[in-house]
Amino acid sequence: MRTISVSAPGKLLLLGEHAAVYGHPCIVTAVNQRMHLVAECTPDAVFRLDAENLYVKRYERPMQEVGTGQVPKAVRFVESAVRRFMQAYPFSQGIRMSTKCDFSSQHGLGSSSSVTVGAIRALAELTGRTLTREELFTMAFQAVLDVQGRSSGFDVAAAVYGGTILYQKGNKPEQLDPEQLPLIVGYSGQKADTVSQVAAVREIHDRHPEIVDRLFEIVSVLVKDGATAIRTHDYRKLGAYMNLNQGILESLEVGTAKLAAMIYATRAAGAYGAKLSGAGGGDCMIALAPEDKKELISTAIAKAGGEIIAIETNVEGVRIDH
Ligand code: MEV
Repeated sequence: MRTISVSAPGKLLLLGEHAAVYGHPCIVTAVNQRMHLVAECTPDAVFRLDAENLYVKRYERPMQEVGTGQVPKAVRFVESAVRRFMQAYPFSQGIRMSTKCDFSSQHGLGSSSSVTVGAIRALAELTGRTLTREELFTMAFQAVLDVQGRSSGFDVAAAVYGGTILYQKGNKPEQLDPEQLPLIVGYSGQKADTVSQVAAVREIHDRHPEIVDRLFEIVSVLVKDGATAIRTHDYRKLGAYMNLNQGILESLEVGTAKLAAMIYATRAAGAYGAKLSGAGGGDCMIALAPEDKKELISTAIAKAGGEIIAIETNVEGVRIDH
């Protein structure tokens, strides 16, 4: 029986989180911490899963039940991906999958979207279907929405297309620049929950729509001009935009004292700019670092109680490894 190995990258949001959910653009980069997925067909109609990082061992369900009824949290995204694929391209075999992630699902680097994209890519390969990147994106985004309810799809786009992209719901992502970004990433040690963060911002938005919509308009400008700053490698400007974006995120109450301490520490250590990355409420912050300040900035994050996550940006999207 043929075994397929697929991997999909994690991601970091550079600018535009939360506004992206309301249809505004954002900038996301794919990072070299990847989700690895091995899959094969089996002769019986059973779905089997081992997900080492999520403590899922010898999980199994009849294929026709996958993605229905009560699905344990840890396997929701994979099941949703399998269900979406089976609905579009019915097949009679069973599937055995195992997943392993270079990063912890606690870090907020996008393990849910990476595993969703990886699972669909693997199923397409196993069943001899050719999906364009656009088709893969559409199906994976749908599978994520089935689980998450509300999402901009930026993380799915990063997992599918890779690179550093300007993404806006409904538009084809635009690749910005093939160069590495001088980013330093600090994990706050606090696990954030995207769904509740998005719901909390929705509440503030619905209480003050005329103000929050204006804030999102400003985020849009930061993102569009930030894209130009990336294209021209104007990191001083990009850093300033990150700081402005952070101010808006703070006003939406998605910051935490710990993230703020890490962000302030990196600015004091000479970062061009720093902000939280993702839904907020914990997870990671990012700092844009001048070459000669990288060490000082990393030390500042550690002193503020953060954990450095070594990453490369701008990496390849989902791929078949063998
Ligand atoms: C979460 O990492 C980023 C949000 O903008 C949600 C989304 O875009 O789907 C808060």
